[in-house]
Amino acid sequence: MEKCSEMKGTGKNLPNEEKIRELLKTALRQREFSYAPYSGFRVGAALLAEDGQIYTGCNIENAAYGPSNCAERTAIFKAVSEGTKDFRAICIAGGGKEGVTGICPPCGVCRQVMQEFCREDFLIILAAGGEEYELYTLGELMPMGFSL
Ligand code: THU
Repeated sequence: MEKCSEMKGTGKNLPNEEKIRELLKTALRQREFSYAPYSGFRVGAALLAEDGQIYTGCNIENAAYGPSNCAERTAIFKAVSEGTKDFRAICIAGGGKEGVTGICPPCGVCRQVMQEFCREDFLIILAAGGEEYELYTLGELMPMGFSL
C-alpha cells in the first residue's frame, strides 16, 4: 500500500491521513443506504471536491438491471448536478453481507465518468476491510483514457 505522502505526480492539494479516514468512514456509512436487492453487494462512496465539500453516493439497483447505478456515479452526478465539477479524491467501500473484506475497484463505466471530470492525479481510495485501504490515481486505473 502506498502512503499518501509518497504518491508521485500529484498536486499540493492531496487529502491528508485525517481526511482519508473521514472519507473512509463516510463511504462505509453510505453502504447502509445502498439499494442492492439483486446483487446483495452494497457499495458506498465519498467524493471530495476541491472546495472541501464531500458528496456521498451508494449503488442503486433496478429489477431491469440495466438502469442500475454505481455508488461512484451517484456521488459524481449529485455533485455535478449541484454545480461542482472539480474533484480531488473519491473513497469507495463495497462488500456483501459479511461487510467490506476486500477492495472494490471502480467499474469501467465509472472510470470513464471520472475521466470526464477529473485529472490523472485524482486520488482513488479503496477501502480494503478494517482500517486498511489502498491508494491509486485515476491515471493508474485509466491509462490512455478517452477525452474530447
Ligand atoms: N458497484 C458499484 O456501485 N461500484 C463499483 O465500483 C462496482 C460495482 C455496484 C453495481 C451493482 O449494484 C453491484 O455493485 C454489483 O455489481
